Formats: sequence, structure tokens, C-alpha cells
Amino acid sequence: MKRLFSSCKIGNLELKNRIAIPAMHLGYTKDGFVNDQLIRFYQERARGGAGLIIVGGAYIHRLGMGGINFLSIDDDRYIPGLKTLADVLRAEGAKTAVQLFHAGRYAYSFLIDDQPVSASEVRSPQSGDTPRALTIEEIQQLVHFFTEGARRAKEAGFDAVEISGATGYLVSQFLSPFTNRRTDEYGGSLENRTRFAVEIVQSIKEKLGNDYPILFRLTFDDLVKGGNGLTDAKEIATVLEPVGVDAICMQVGWHESRVPTIAMNVPRAAFGYLSKEIKKEVNIPVMVSNRINDPVLAEELLQDGVADLIGLGRTLIADPEFPQKAMAERLHEIRPCIACNQGCFDSVLTGMPVTCLVNPAAGREASFDVEPPKKTKKVMVIGSGPGGLEAARVLSGRGHEVLLYEKEDRLGGKLNLCHLPPGRKEFIPYIDYLVAEVKRLKVKVVTGVTVTEKMVLENNPDVVVLATGAIQTLPQIPGIDKAHVYFAESVLEGKADPGENVVVVGGGAVGCETALFMAKRGAMPASTALFLMTNDAISSEDALKFSRSGRTVTIIEMLDRIGTEFGRSYRWVMMQNLRQSDVTMMAKTKCIEIHDGHIIVEQEGERKTVEADTVVIATGYEPVNELYTRLEGKVPELFLIGDAKGPRKCLEAVYEGAKIGREIS
Ligand SMILES: Cc1cc2nc3c(=O)[nH]c(=O)nc-3n(C[C@H](O)[C@H](O)[C@H](O)COP(=O)(O)OP(=O)(O)OC[C@H]3O[C@@H](n4cnc5c(N)ncnc54)[C@H](O)[C@@H]3O)c2cc1C
Ligand SMILES: Cc1cc2nc3c(=O)[nH]c(=O)nc-3n(C[C@H](O)[C@H](O)[C@H](O)COP(=O)(O)O)c2cc1C
Repeated sequence: MKRLFSSCKIGNLELKNRIAIPAMHLGYTKDGFVNDQLIRFYQERARGGAGLIIVGGAYIHRLGMGGINFLSIDDDRYIPGLKTLADVLRAEGAKTAVQLFHAGRYAYSFLIDDQPVSASEVRSPQSGDTPRALTIEEIQQLVHFFTEGARRAKEAGFDAVEISGATGYLVSQFLSPFTNRRTDEYGGSLENRTRFAVEIVQSIKEKLGNDYPILFRLTFDDLVKGGNGLTDAKEIATVLEPVGVDAICMQVGWHESRVPTIAMNVPRAAFGYLSKEIKKEVNIPVMVSNRINDPVLAEELLQDGVADLIGLGRTLIADPEFPQKAMAERLHEIRPCIACNQGCFDSVLTGMPVTCLVNPAAGREASFDVEPPKKTKKVMVIGSGPGGLEAARVLSGRGHEVLLYEKEDRLGGKLNLCHLPPGRKEFIPYIDYLVAEVKRLKVKVVTGVTVTEKMVLENNPDVVVLATGAIQTLPQIPGIDKAHVYFAESVLEGKADPGENVVVVGGGAVGCETALFMAKRGAMPASTALFLMTNDAISSEDALKFSRSGRTVTIIEMLDRIGTEFGRSYRWVMMQNLRQSDVTMMAKTKCIEIHDGHIIVEQEGERKTVEADTVVIATGYEPVNELYTRLEGKVPELFLIGDAKGPRKCLEAVYEGAKIGREIS
């Protein structure tokens, strides 16, 4: 980790290492002011060793608010709060910046109570609003507002500012021909489209002095048709450097782009190639980001000339101590970001505060302190899914005597299924982490034992935590007991013998994932397609064709929409994957009979036959909590967590495990 932990200079600003937290809207403030929740969140990350923390986005003007609970820097009254934050982070040894933000056409009219503004009148698919084009006078006012935002950041004691010029927000709406249709000096040529950004940089430098560092967040490829690509981004970077930008921070894709950029199925550091190209064009530091969750990879990226700084967003939400652990080479202790987005980005998209599936303490730093118990207790944790493992980890870490029981031969519960569908492999390092942690924390683990009431009573524990999960339900459909009908879980575990025509009954998350899994089984693996293509054995068209789908797969779903259980940031990715794999999706459709070779469905009152030599059931779960009823009143303390309480997701199971782990006194 020599490079990762070497110092780096942004202008005159010296960072102790090359780890930066890129700007992330966290949704912790209701009124735009810095508060304790925000301070504690960043304090943990500064304490954990991040060299640079970019706070925000913070909107520089009311019309540029990017969503609810956004941080503000549009008035002097925000300075004291920002100052407290900057002071705290400085005391922890981190350098700081604020991202100056204006959403432009991505603002929601109902939130800003006005029509959003942009370079031109190009409708936003996010909000459905069409913005009005800014007048030249208004553009110049905005240059002033950005400058005022920078002044406030400097007065508050931040070491630098970052201009949000990416992801489809206002400044990038000017940079990109996709949204900039102007014919005046702010539109047309690249020089004109860059004018707004250049004027902001020049104005900040004029006001705050050449020494005050400015970072610029730039989209290295808009990934929207008619937008800027890498060649344009290179030119923009070379325009920005001489006018005073001190570092360029990578973004990739706009929110309306249909190329996944942060989902779990995006390969780690997939967009590093863009950063490497930009780095060749400029002499200022370049920050790479997106899907970097491993210090070894981070070090390689630096060594390979991909970037000068590593942006770790969700990775440092998942584990604030990542830098320290990496520096001490305690790699197996790093709690990995799995890029599920369930706690972070999906929360933002639904107006909720950011937290984290693997780290429920994120955003709850103040209330989730881990304290030693009043008395050491003997705790039996039954079930080793994510809920049980997290509870055992926290309880043992606090000093309780923990016995963890699992009826299967391996730990992990349904985590062992979560990673099986295509693109979900990041669950594996999470299992490895949890298993390594319970071992490190000396939890007594018993596998291959189904715990009964008798066993619990014989053990005489002070506390029992039941994390026994849920099992799949079997719907009452004539023909359900036929040999070619399988549970989705059995299919994922490779226990089924699928035919050519697979029907998945149930289009929730498990149904969709299993449908994709089925479609990809028997299709050409992507690595094989690439090998054959690069050796001219097959054309790129054939490579795509052969790797699309291995069989015919149909999803049958009673509800109006398929995949509603997925978060907003992943649903579209999943639907796109299913379409790309030729999976047929039938919503508002009910399976009413199963026969050999086909099923009968009812779609909006009409009966239809769908060919099916394999039927996969994914119609839901019921909790496994019989032991709870049996033990009630018979043990001193009894708790039920996770799916055993009600079938839901890892997000809830881990949270409940973490909470109970802290509460048992
Ligand atoms: C294919 C698939 C994909 C999924 N993908 C996601 C996803 O992307 N994101 C997400 O958040 N959630 C996902 N889920 C849901 C998630 O896996 C569950 O919500 C989560 O695992 C529940 O955790 P838990 O600890 O409550 O229970 P489980 O993980 O079900 O673990 C319960 C454990 O208890 C054990 N057990 C039960 N009874 C006893 C007993 N008497 N004695 C000893 N041991 C016992 C079981 O063997 C099991 O190992 C997915 C589920 C599936 C099936
Ligand atoms: C919850 C959340 C909020 C974000 N908010 C911002 C933002 O306000 N400004 C910005 O430039 N990028 C924002 N991003 C993008 C991140 O800075 C980063 O580029 C992205 O998460 C990819 O990096 P990662 O894989 O390390 O998380 C946000 C990302 C997340 C997950």
C-alpha cells in the first residue's frame, strides 16, 4: 500500500494519503444546516484515516436543491455549522472540501416550488419537469452564487471547494451538447459550452486567491446519446487546468444514462480506463471512483497510472476504518461495500437518510455506539444468516459469551444464495467478512445442529436471539407436486434439472434473480465470448448472441409490475438485464394450473397456455419462528430478529442484529 498511503498535493494542499471520500448527498439535514448526525458521520470517516473528505453536495442557490434534506451553502447563516464540521474533521487529521452544487434541470419543481433552470429547455426524465433556459444575466448571477458558496466554505475553514460539474447537474448541462442547445456565447462550440464552468473557476480564484484549491467534478463520459464522451471530457479537462482547477474528480454517466455505473454487477473499477485517459491530458491530480472496495485494487490503480487519488464513496460508508485497516494490513477485517445500494443510494432516491446494509451504524453513529455490557451474559444466537452473524459479531465484540448455532454445515444462511444469481458476487466477500469476524471475536460456533427447545433449556442461557430466517411458501396450484416443479432456492443451488422452457412463477426479487440465473445457464460465459472474439473466432454480434440466453425463460407475476421489490437504483438494471437475456415478462398474470410441458395462466380474464418443461416457484416466504413460541416465558431474555420476525431483506436482518447486539446490557 505504498502509493495509497503516500502524500499527495492538490495545489498547495497536502493530503496525508490518497484516499478521498467523494461528495455524497446523505439526506441527514432537514433544513440545510450541518447537524450532529452529519458531523458524527464524517468524524468517524476522518478518524478512520481518509485523507480528503468532500462534504456535500451543498446547493449554492435555492433553485439548485437536488432533493429533500439537502445540505445548503446558499447563505451566510450556514457558515457556523459548516465551521463546526470543518473544525472537527481538521482535528481528526483530514483535509476537507465542500462540493458546490446546483441541480439545474434535475431539480424537482415541487421541491423548489418553481420551474427548474438549465442551459436549455430539455425535459428531465427524472422529474418530468421541463426547465427554462437561463438568461445571460442569470448565468452571471449564478457565477456569483457559486463564488459566494466558495467564500462561505473558505470562511468556515474548509481547505478547498469542489465544483459539481458532472452527472447531469447544472454545470454539466452547460458542458454537454445533449442539454445545451444555446446559440449564444454559452452554447455551441466546446469553448462556449465550457464558458460557464471557466467563469465560475476564474471568479472563485479572483475572490479567494489563486492559492485556494478548486476541485472540479467532471463526467468523463456522459453515457447519454448526444452527450459528451471521453474525447470531449479530455478537451474540457485541458481547458479547466490552465484557468485554475487544481484537481479533476471523476464521474461517469448521467442519472438518465442506461449504463449501470454503481450497481453490484458493474465490475470493480470498471471505469478506471476513463480516468487513465484523462490523467494523460493534465498535470493536476485526477481522482478515480466507482466500485473500488478493495485496498489492493486501489493501490494497483495508483501504480498503473489510472489516477492520483482514489475516491471511496460507499466503501467508506460501509467501513469508516477502511484506511486504517488497509494501512495496518488488516485486510480481512475490512467490512466490504457490496454495492447493493439498498441503504445508501436507494434511500436517497426515496428521500430517506443514508445508511448501509453491511454497516447499519452508518448515519446512526451517535446512537449506535458500542459499549461494554453491565454484566457478561451467556447468549445463544440461533441461525447464522446475516442477522444472526451480525448479532453474534457485535455481542461478542462487546464482551458477552456468545454461542452461535446453525443447522446447516456452513455459516451464512441465505447469504449463500444471495451471491448465486448473475452479478451478485459481491455478497461473497461479505460472507467471508462476517465469518472471519465471528472467528476473530471468538464466538463459539456450532454447525450442523438444529436447535430445539430442549437444547436451549439444557444450555441455560441468559439470552436467546432467534435469527432462524424464513422458508419459501408453496402456493396451492393444481399440479404443484409434479416432478418438474422446483423452489427457486433449489434451482439456484443447482438441485434442479432445467429443461428448455422455464417458467418462473412470481416476479419479485427472488423470481427475477432466478429467471436471470436460468437464462444465463447454458449461455456462453462473457469471458469465453471475449476470448473467442479477440481471437477472431466469432464476430462481436455472435459473441453477444451466444452470451444472451441459454434457454427460454418466462416470468409470471400477478401484480401490475415485475421486480417491485428492488430498490429504484437497481430495478431498471435488473429489467434491462432480463430484456437483454430475452426473458419474457408477463405481469397481471396468474398461474392457475401446472401440466406436463405447459402451464395455464390467466391474464386479465383471459386464459392462456405457456410452454413449460420446468416450473420454478418464487411466490414468497414465511417466517421460521416456531421456537420463539415454544421458548416464550421459559428463558430470561428472548429476541426475534430478521426474516424470522417477518420475511424481508438483509438490510433489515443486519440492522436488527446490530441493534440487538448493542441493546443486550
Ligand atoms: C436468491 C436470494 C437473493 C436475495 N438477495 C437479496 C439482496 O440482494 N438483498 C437483500 O437485502 N436480501 C436479499 N435476499 C434476502 C435475504 O437473503 C434474507 O432477507 C436474509 O438472509 C435474512 O437473514 P436472516 O439472518 O434473518 O435469515 P437467514 O439468512 O434465512 O438465516 C437463517 C438461518 O437460520 C438457520 N436455522 C433455522 N432454524 C434453525 C434452528 N432451529 N437451529 C439452527 N439453525 C437454524 C437456517 O439454516 C439459516 O441458516 C435474498 C434472498 C434470496 C433467496
Ligand atoms: C448516497 C449517494 C449520494 C451521492 N451524492 C453525490 C453528490 O451529491 N455529488 C456527487 O458528485 N456525487 C454523488 N454521489 C456519487 C459518489 O460521489 C460516487 O461517485 C459514487 O458513489 C461511486 O463511487 P463508489 O462506488 O465509491 O460509491 C453519490 C453517491 C451515493 C451513493
